Amino acid sequence: MDAIRHHSFGPPEVLTLEQIPDPTPGPGEVLVDAVAHGVHLVDTTVRRGESGPPLPLPSLPTVPGREIAGTVTAVGAGVDASWVGRRVAAHLGRVPDGGGYARRVAVAAEKLHVIPERDTGAPLDPADAIAMIGTGRMAIYTLDIAAVTAADVVVVTAAAGGLGTLFIQEALNSGARVVALAGGAAKLQLLRELLPDVLPDALPGAQPGAQPGARSDGEAVPLPGPDRLALVDYTVPDWVDAARAALAGAPATLVLDGVGGELGTGAAALLGRESTNGEATDDTAPADVSALGGIGGTGPATPRLVAYGWASGAPNRYTSWAGADRIESSVEVRYALGPDAPPMPDQRPYQERALARAASGQWRVVTHRVPFAEAARAHRELEERRTTGKVVLV
Ligand SMILES: NC(=O)c1ccc[n+]([C@@H]2O[C@H](COP(=O)([O-])OP(=O)(O)OC[C@H]3O[C@@H](n4cnc5c(N)ncnc54)[C@H](OP(=O)(O)O)[C@@H]3O)[C@@H](O)[C@H]2O)c1
Repeated sequence: MDAIRHHSFGPPEVLTLEQIPDPTPGPGEVLVDAVAHGVHLVDTTVRRGESGPPLPLPSLPTVPGREIAGTVTAVGAGVDASWVGRRVAAHLGRVPDGGGYARRVAVAAEKLHVIPERDTGAPLDPADAIAMIGTGRMAIYTLDIAAVTAADVVVVTAAAGGLGTLFIQEALNSGARVVALAGGAAKLQLLRELLPDVLPDALPGAQPGAQPGARSDGEAVPLPGPDRLALVDYTVPDWVDAARAALAGAPATLVLDGVGGELGTGAAALLGRESTNGEATDDTAPADVSALGGIGGTGPATPRLVAYGWASGAPNRYTSWAGADRIESSVEVRYALGPDAPPMPDQRPYQERALARAASGQWRVVTHRVPFAEAARAHRELEERRTTGKVVLV
């Protein structure tokens, strides 16, 4: 079968397409003919040979990847034969020898999710299912920790990424206002094109008129109002000023950060109210800023930051922004991932919830699809910040 392997640690080009023997499903396992394979930022870290959490380095040669979707073609001992022919997605687990960049994968039956049908009756696309099995589940887990409400003003880093595109939709669906930070004009354009589809009047200047919807859990979705979303390119030097202008002097109440480093720190600084000398102050009390014409929120919410990654490679400690010493006691930092995070609970319920959101259309899934044989290109584009949405090999 076709598989992507590397025999040494190094640049993306160490990833090569090879022929390796088909696996045989063992007891409790099934064999999946895979058509979609998730690519994760941590796959690039491992490929470079950088050790440390969250994954130890594998022995070489190795087949990277931990997310697959496809069709069950055989079952091992003790597995119900009715699995054969079913369309499934699975996260293979936090193992260094992932094995996911392979066209045939033996996987424990207990890890399988049947790919659901969309509300329209059409099956969910396998690449979209891939995006839900790892990235969607992390989005829900992080959102549960963040507890977004309609009173929030939410700042999202890497907003055009796999997680970011889901966070924006969820925050807007919750009635919150959003400042989306993304690297470059092309990414902002993607968000402009994506969001009117999801929430027709969320963008500034759009015509109101969308009908309130209903979530699959039966709760009414608040009618989106105009001007609930600001898009900011944080690769330009004065981006913090642009974000502050969008906030019209009010503090953000929630930062969702998966980037860390300088960009994460800059985003964190938006939790402080701007003072007359341009520095953040310790006045984080929520205020009614609806008259200010910016995106600032109108209700009470605890200022908080939820950290779920460090794509920049730099630690996310959030202690170095202007005024941090004065406001850090009033901002709650919660870690979804990393050395300061509590142990994660069983992720299966989060996977189920994410798949249900995609199937119902509550989330529009954005994927960056790359042909399977071009895994090296997928890694390079991810490392060079040139992807939008979840990266999937197809
Ligand atoms: N997907 C998951 O299952 C998952 C699970 C747990 C944790 N996380 C973490 O969540 C964060 C986002 O993950 P994601 O999978 O949704 O990825 P992603 O956002 O689709 O891609 C990473 C993005 O991070 C930004 N970035 C900033 N500095 C970067 C750098 N030096 N190198 C690479 N990217 C950089 C880029 O967006 P801009 O150009 O817009 O800045 C880039 O597109 C990462 O820290 C990841 O480790 C993800």
